[in-house]
Amino acid sequence: MAALGEFDQKFGDEAMSEASHERLIGEAPCWLQVLEEISQIAPLDKPVLLAGERGTGKEQVAARLHYLSNRWEGIFLKMNCAAITESLLESELFGHEAGAFTGASRTHHGRFERADGGTLFLDELASTSSLVQEKLLRVIEYGEFERVGGPRALTTDVRLVAATNQDLPTLAETGRFRLDLLDRLAFDVITLPPLRERGEDIQLLAEHFAVNMATELGRDLFPGFTAEAMETLIGHDWLGNVRELKNVVERAVYRSGSEEQVSAITLDPFASPYRLGIVQAGVKGASPPAQSVPAFPMDLKEQVQEFETRLIQEALKESRYNQRRAAELLGLTYHQLRGYLRKYDLVGTEAQ
Ligand SMILES: Nc1ncnc2c1ncn2[C@@H]1O[C@H](COP(=O)(O)OP(=O)(O)O)[C@@H](O)[C@H]1O
Ligand SMILES: [Mg+2]
Repeated sequence: MAALGEFDQKFGDEAMSEASHERLIGEAPCWLQVLEEISQIAPLDKPVLLAGERGTGKEQVAARLHYLSNRWEGIFLKMNCAAITESLLESELFGHEAGAFTGASRTHHGRFERADGGTLFLDELASTSSLVQEKLLRVIEYGEFERVGGPRALTTDVRLVAATNQDLPTLAETGRFRLDLLDRLAFDVITLPPLRERGEDIQLLAEHFAVNMATELGRDLFPGFTAEAMETLIGHDWLGNVRELKNVVERAVYRSGSEEQVSAITLDPFASPYRLGIVQAGVKGASPPAQSVPAFPMDLKEQVQEFETRLIQEALKESRYNQRRAAELLGLTYHQLRGYLRKYDLVGTEAQ
């Protein structure tokens, strides 16, 4: 039990912090549409699915759904389904009885029990196992569940808000997500637009984050961005969406003086001539740069092909499109490299 207790403190995600119901900024038509959908669906007790790329505001929208609902005085709990193993997730969600497994010395009340009368936000729903999905389906349909190792069915009254950055219908088609659960969750799906589709909101959001940051730094005012800085912000494609914009803006504000307009924007905080991986790439036998944790489920073959293609293109660039030299850089014979170029249809690459 000690381990779980510790886990609770670390990832325990108790009632949400202040930040989670701060204002939702944005005036782009597609964003206003989302706000409208939120107001409409909030008072219903039905489950809601939030779909959207990372950083589009799913967690904040979930909090808004709670505070606009009739449960606003109840608790708002969250759980990131990708953060832990399957069995730990089961016990975090549904609880466990004393003695359910080694180390389970006391009864543990899961999120569904503790969120009774409130809202439970399940982030990264796509990474749940089939077993957890089955238990979720039952709790949505009948409000019933069992603690791990518990013989009794318990009841709870929880409004479920789930989030995903994957396309669940596609996962369901290929058997990686339960269709019946998807059907139940799909009572209403709110799809959050990526920031690049909300061009006019970039400036609003940037100014909002900048003012907050200046306040946090104890500055009296925020002198604004230079025109070029704003152009850089508007022109970027923001694959990390609002979260990425927030980081970029906050960094730019604290690095600039309190009196001057913000002019320097660093889009990639890792950019450095000494960047790990790039420096090491030239060292014989160096391990490949650390990759971020992949988003499962994935298509392994496709990922490997993409990786191979990228390395080959890099080697070609490095060797100025001299294929013999590129082959050497990759530890391949010339004929092996030719084989790869044909396989990945890169034969024209030398002309680029
Ligand atoms: N419309 C918005 N207005 C203000 N802040 C936002 C907005 N959307 C997202 N944010 C902020 O951006 C960050 C990422 O949002 P979050 O809800 O965690 O995204 P997701 O859950 O989709 O990854 C958070 O700091 C959040 O407060
Ligand atoms: Mg999130």
